[in-house]
Amino acid sequence: MATDFTEETAADAVIESFGPDTDPRLREVLVSLVKHLHAFASDVELTIPEWEKAIDFLTRTGQKCDADRQEFILLSDVLGLSMLVETISNRKYGVATESTVLGPFHVVESPVLELGANIDQVGTGTPCVVTGRVVSVDGSPLPGATIDIWQANDQGFYDVQQPDVQPRTNGRGLFTADGNGEFWFRTIVPSYYPIPTDGPVGEMLIATGRHAFRPAHIHFIVEAPGHRPLTTHIFVAGSEYIESDTVFAVKKSLVVDFEEVTDEAQAAQWNVGKTPFRHADFQIIMQPGS
Ligand SMILES: [Fe+2]
Repeated sequence: MATDFTEETAADAVIESFGPDTDPRLREVLVSLVKHLHAFASDVELTIPEWEKAIDFLTRTGQKCDADRQEFILLSDVLGLSMLVETISNRKYGVATESTVLGPFHVVESPVLELGANIDQVGTGTPCVVTGRVVSVDGSPLPGATIDIWQANDQGFYDVQQPDVQPRTNGRGLFTADGNGEFWFRTIVPSYYPIPTDGPVGEMLIATGRHAFRPAHIHFIVEAPGHRPLTTHIFVAGSEYIESDTVFAVKKSLVVDFEEVTDEAQAAQWNVGKTPFRHADFQIIMQPGS
């Protein structure tokens, strides 16, 4: 063990302390982490009060987490780390649909629903029909693909944020694509929304002059046998904040038109109670693999 720790030898002293039986990948990650962490502290000449403030910030971030609130994912999201890891893990494969962040609200198991079901259990907001199909990169349909959906309501809140207003599982559904890989469901057009700002992450956004908003979107996790699972969103074209998502998650290929429909016959066919309503249609292209 090293003695007389200096600014020059600090990182190496820590790295040399790792034992010979350390898992190789854990060693690789920790060696790099220690090097970058020490370089960062040296670079900014981190003071003791700043270090104490950082410890307090991280402590409070952890204390803000519970079964329905994930402040650490929020922190990762607003620092762009979530999107960076997503992008590294899912480098775009040719024509496959692009991935984006999971976000902090996938905390409730989605109810299993029949195709065409309405995931909106409240009845406010602009009705919307979402149709789509799941295919492989060669265009062949993927029957039996599962599509896990979750979204905010027309006020920009998820069910878990409003336990007294929204039924738990409002805005959520787990669907199975039909024999042609096609799926459809009814919902309402989600609103743009602010990420929760009543915690340490909100303090950081205010301190850095940033807004807290995300453009309107619907979350998807799509799984199909023999293909890589896909975590993504579709974004509502024209939504506010589409150019400045506070978690950096917008990719142009994921922006979808939610077109206005006034056709009464179409409303009847899709069991939508009134016109006008909105219709979004898109294709999910899955990458073979596991
Ligand atoms: Fe979201």
